[in-house]
Parts: sequence; C-alpha cells; structure tokens
Amino acid sequence: MRLWGRAYGLGMASPAPVIVKLGGSVITRKREAARIRPKVLRRLAEELCEPGGPPLVVLHGAGSFGHPGAVRWRLASAPPSEGDPHRARGAAIVSAEVRRLHVAVLRELVDAGGRPVSVPVAGSARNHEGRLSQFDPDPFRRWLSAGFTPVSFGDVVLDDRWGTSILSADSIALELASALRAERVLFVSDVPGVLGPAIRGRRPVIPELTSELVRSLQPKVGAPDVTGGIRGKAEAMLAIAEKGTLAGLISGLSDGALSRAVRGEAVYGSWAKAAAH
Ligand code: IPE
Repeated sequence: MRLWGRAYGLGMASPAPVIVKLGGSVITRKREAARIRPKVLRRLAEELCEPGGPPLVVLHGAGSFGHPGAVRWRLASAPPSEGDPHRARGAAIVSAEVRRLHVAVLRELVDAGGRPVSVPVAGSARNHEGRLSQFDPDPFRRWLSAGFTPVSFGDVVLDDRWGTSILSADSIALELASALRAERVLFVSDVPGVLGPAIRGRRPVIPELTSELVRSLQPKVGAPDVTGGIRGKAEAMLAIAEKGTLAGLISGLSDGALSRAVRGEAVYGSWAKAAAH
C-alpha cells in the first residue's frame, strides 16, 4: 500500500491554487425546491475552465437542494432527543439531494473542458455541535498534484453530539485556504458584494471588509439559509484573510467577473485583505 502524505503534497514549485465557492444562491433558484439555474451554472463553469488559469479547487453550496430540507428537519440545531429517527431520515434525504446538484456541477465542468473530480468530505469530516471539528485536506492535495480540479460541496456530516449536522462549503473553504496555502478564495454570489447599511435608501457594496463593518451587519432572520447567510460568509472571509489569504465576494451574475477574478484581476465586490504573516 502506498502511503500518501505531506511528501506528496503541493511542492514548492506548484502554483498556489485558487479556491472558488459557487454559492447556492447563484447556481440554484433558492426559493424554489431543488431547481438549478442552468444558464448561470454553464457560464460559470465555462469561466472556470478557461485555458491557462491557475489550479483550482471548486466548492459549491446547496441552495434550494439543501437549505429547505435542513430547515425542515432542523439539521443545523441540537436534536430534541437522542437518536431522533426523523432527523436521521431528513439527513439522508438532504445528503441525497445535495449530491444531485453536485453531479450537475461536475457535468458542467466536464462539458466546459475541465478536469473536475468529486471529493466529498462527508467520509472524513466531523462536526461538533454544528461546527467543523475534524477535516482532512489530503485528498484535495493529492488530486491537485495529479492535475485535477477537486470539487466538493456543503453537506450533511456526522456530528459528535447531534448525530448529524450541516457543514457549509464556506467552512471547507476556510480549512482549505490555509491547508493548501491558497492564492485567494473567491465566493461567487447572487449579490455584487457584502451590502452595508442603507444610505439614502440604497445599500452600497462594502469594498473592503473589516471586523467592525461585519459586526454591524444584521444576521438575516427568517431566510431559508441555515448556514449564516451573508454575515456568516463575511465572517468566513475575515477568518481566511486573518490566516493570510485574500478573500473576495463577487457577483456570479455579471459576465466575466469570475474569470477575471480567477486570473487575479481586480474585480468589483467585497474583499478581505490578507493579513501579513
Ligand atoms: C449548505 O452549504 C449545505 C446544506 C444545507 C446541506 P452552503 O452553506 O455552502 O450552501 P449555500 O451556498 O449557502 O447554498
């Protein structure tokens, strides 16, 4: 048996990967059950697969394939009783649903000429009370080293205390950013950036995120999103930047923004600048 380990990790000569998270809000119709936005997904896949780009890790959210079920079976909070059979059944349904979306994402990346390979994290990642407590970045390293694009997604994972719970792809991005020493992390959304408080009736995009600005954002109430919405994402971006990687939130609805951001060009959106290390 061959022991894969750090020795087969990204060597000094390998270019640092760019991590792209396709938000569920942009690749699915978030308010309609399990509906893909086929044209948007196709264009984003084509932008990701343009020749000559850096090595990529692609993550995607669950959108309407995951959040409604996660809300219905309360998978993002403590179960009312241990070994609740409804929760287990709900977890199985949500797990199957997010895989339907995953296959669609893989297929678009293949059709666009890429070399995606599925790397689900549910086999090894664990949560503790809804927060990621165990994660193995090695499969991502190995597939990157072999010239592939690892593709993973927000999922249902085992939870030490709750049986199962939800792991957001934003948390996977945070783990991978430092484990792979990523060049940058791009969150692709249906909004042009993190929107600040209204000024004369309009909410401007915050170009540079700071902890004070993020603290001032309201947690969204009543939205069909179990993983923290835009405020949770902004917090993940700050944590990524704190560990030394540039993180941006850009629109996936504006043609060409993703391909330019992947190439390292300045793109309109919200950015959390990497802390010096
Ligand atoms: C959510 O993942 C996973 C499930 C609800 C099963 P994300 O937090 O990454 O998904 P989006 O981007 O908000 O849809």
